[in-house]
Amino acid sequence: MHYFAIKKGWLWCEGVRTVDIAKKTGTPVYIYSHRTLAEHYLKIDAAFSGTEHLICYSLKANSSMAVINSLAKLGSGADIVSGGELFRALRAGIPAGKIVYAGVGKTSEEIEAALKKGVSMFNIESMPEAERINSIAGKLCKKANVAFRVNPDVDPDTHHYITTGKKENKFGINISLAAGLFIRAHKKLKNLNVTGVHIHIGSQITKTGAYVEALKKIAVLISKLRESGLIITSLNIGGGLGIIYSNEKPSTPAEFAEKILPVIRPLGVRVIMEPGRFIAGNAGILLAKVTYIKKGENKNFVIVDAGMNDLIRPSLYDAYHNIIPAQPASGKMKADIVGPICESGDFFGKNRLVPILREGQYLAVMSAGAYGFSMASNYNSRRKPAEVLVKGNKFFVVRKRETYEDLTRGECVPGCL
Ligand code: LLP
Repeated sequence: MHYFAIKKGWLWCEGVRTVDIAKKTGTPVYIYSHRTLAEHYLKIDAAFSGTEHLICYSLKANSSMAVINSLAKLGSGADIVSGGELFRALRAGIPAGKIVYAGVGKTSEEIEAALKKGVSMFNIESMPEAERINSIAGKLCKKANVAFRVNPDVDPDTHHYITTGKKENKFGINISLAAGLFIRAHKKLKNLNVTGVHIHIGSQITKTGAYVEALKKIAVLISKLRESGLIITSLNIGGGLGIIYSNEKPSTPAEFAEKILPVIRPLGVRVIMEPGRFIAGNAGILLAKVTYIKKGENKNFVIVDAGMNDLIRPSLYDAYHNIIPAQPASGKMKADIVGPICESGDFFGKNRLVPILREGQYLAVMSAGAYGFSMASNYNSRRKPAEVLVKGNKFFVVRKRETYEDLTRGECVPGCL
């Protein structure tokens, strides 16, 4: 579900024609629909309305300030994985008490900053990390609320790069070792309040089976922990809800809740969840302009002004993104849609049947709102693109395109050269 639509051949975002944005901002440009972001958040919220819950939007999907702000206004919390994301979440108005902090490699500096700001919970991934947080909390005369991330060893049936809950993955504590570790931490690490269990089994998961399987294992773990005297009050089920890129049929939040809540409700815990892609993925597109049409011996290439530095998902995961013209076009041609970067992996789509395109026309790479800008880089010394947020029939540049000066900011050349 989203508010991008073709009307008489033109691609609109809510009440704004996307080419009108491109003419103002130039290309490449990310365009986000505020209404889509908000409705996705509210859909998840509604699905869990009968249960005590907190949605902590996963900033890594799209950490642009306007996006975080939009969600903060609706009451969202944040799932963060770095000092930088802590900074953004707080600056966007998310209260520290609604922030959960995950990640396998939190540094002492990051832990200290998060404790000082009073984040609601750390999702701990190993015993050494638990000991580190315990000692820093002690120095600050604080008690840290913590959950341990448990690796339930289930297969969510998604791309191997974004599978995180199998035992060969680096994440979480193996379920067979979890009880012992929780109990040790509870007994020995006096500056920790061990009150939560966290899982995150992967991303772009379209079926709920693996969640149910994982949660059943977690339910057994929670009863064991309670028998040993731990007071477990929260269960963080992570993110991972899949979206439609082409012909996937992901469960809706309501179907998802209906399947998992019967396993969770008897536990009497507060549910925390960390959706990223579900909220932002289909709320954004990357709009690019055709630079050249190159006819090869047995292949045509549509060369656009966006590259893998702007959106790396096709190159990195062979991810499929629908690509459509943003203005009326007719006829059909088969082509690879590629960027200007000096790598064969710099493509958005291969062997796509697209209308006959001309130089200067605009193309939209759809479903690019999550893991698009947030994974963008300056490779080939390309400036990061602009970002625009559309709300109704208005649009706002929420991030300016970088300048060439931005590219060398912070660099210095030693005087001896
Ligand atoms: N919570 C934790 C602990 C995570 O590691 C992630 C994502 C999320 C929540 C949010 O997952 P989501 O709801 O967005 O699936 N760059 C890849 C996706 C990497 C996901 C990393 N972790 C991609 O473009 O597909």
